[in-house]
Amino acid sequence: MPDQTADQNVRILRGRLLSFSAAPQGPEDTSAYCYEEDGALLVRDGKIAAKGMFSEVRDAAPQTAEIIDHRPHLLLPGFIDTHIHFPQAQVIASWADQLLDWLNDYTFPCELRFADRAHGKRIAGEFYDALLDHGTTTAVAYCSSHPNSVDAYFEEAEARGMLMLGGKTMMDRNAPKALCDTAQSSYDDSKALLSKWHGRGRAHYVITPRFAITSTPEQLEAAGTLSREHPDCHVQTHINENHNEIAFTRELYPDAGHYLGVYESFGLLGSRTLLGHCIHMTGHEMQVMRETGSVAVFCPTSNLFLGSGLFDKAGMESAGILTAIATDVGGGTSYSMLRTLDEGYKILQLQRQRIHPLTSFYWITHGNAAALSMTDRIGTLEPGTDADVVVLDAKATRPMALRMETVETLSEELFVLQTLGDDRAVIETYVAGEQRKTGQLSAASA
Ligand code: GUN
Ligand code: ZN
Repeated sequence: MPDQTADQNVRILRGRLLSFSAAPQGPEDTSAYCYEEDGALLVRDGKIAAKGMFSEVRDAAPQTAEIIDHRPHLLLPGFIDTHIHFPQAQVIASWADQLLDWLNDYTFPCELRFADRAHGKRIAGEFYDALLDHGTTTAVAYCSSHPNSVDAYFEEAEARGMLMLGGKTMMDRNAPKALCDTAQSSYDDSKALLSKWHGRGRAHYVITPRFAITSTPEQLEAAGTLSREHPDCHVQTHINENHNEIAFTRELYPDAGHYLGVYESFGLLGSRTLLGHCIHMTGHEMQVMRETGSVAVFCPTSNLFLGSGLFDKAGMESAGILTAIATDVGGGTSYSMLRTLDEGYKILQLQRQRIHPLTSFYWITHGNAAALSMTDRIGTLEPGTDADVVVLDAKATRPMALRMETVETLSEELFVLQTLGDDRAVIETYVAGEQRKTGQLSAASA
């Protein structure tokens, strides 16, 4: 019987549902996902209350429920970006050589501007609108080293109801003085921000030492202490992205044995540790990653843009390491997880590691949620989880529509979305059940 007494805060999203519960083991592995041709989600108070065939969901819903009909489009869990830099929204598309020059010439100067609170607020707002227009509902971000930037980051996320992870970048050397903190101040500031934000609404604090080059041993020690004091917080940093970076790290930490050993010796590894890039890994480092359960984060557009190298997904996974995928804006060149998948596909193709489109869409939804240990809340359309949903149109542009004339299967459709899609293919983005796509990206100069 329909529930006549339910409140008005209920809506039904109708469309073609696709949601994953595990990594597909091959093109035929239908047990890894659920696809409903005429499906619906019942959304109540920001959560998915029911999922299934439209007729059944409608019959069980209160008659007052608003029905939003997205047919013939696909409804998937909102995309998750596991590595991005919010203060680099004006670094993206900077003509630089490789990593260290790019950091010194463009990135650090741009991050210096976040000393100004108003600047941080403005960029945070633009950042979230860009994410939402591209279908990303959760991201894990580096803020700048200024505590202000973390407040701006979480305040703007809260205003949009988004589940966001992030933290103050800890950096106390090899950068402009005005961007540097100290081991003690970075500990104190991170701790205060963590106490203020972690667990407030949908905010999650991430302990964020930038990388070994910009942290003294004392600072990494402080980060390790924070992590031990707050084991439910994630840790994020960068590793093995670029050969010059690795050589400099060896000079700074001559006793570490290998790059990962630096982070290991300060207790920074574990299943909540996200290691950006992981391109030039030794066998021993991979073994330590597996033993500690640390996550390798693949950033394809960044790795190509900065000429960093080719991520070895198959090597990582056969070594038992969990992998995630991310944009890494502003080293990365797009906010779109679809563009990110496309470039990632090409990197893997070069290594004869072609991945199937079902695996791709698993990766940017349930896979990334699993890498964050958050599948109980995001990355899925299962009842009880947060109603973060993206609506996709594989005919969004004329070239896409033309190609779709010859498409016969769901997998082919997903591959068109991945190969040709961008924010134009994102029809709507729901955050906790609310429509959040601004659609104003292309109107910014008007
Ligand atoms: N290594 C240290 N900082 C950064 C950064 O901001 N971007 C990238 N891609 N690598 C880094
Ligand atoms: Zn990065």
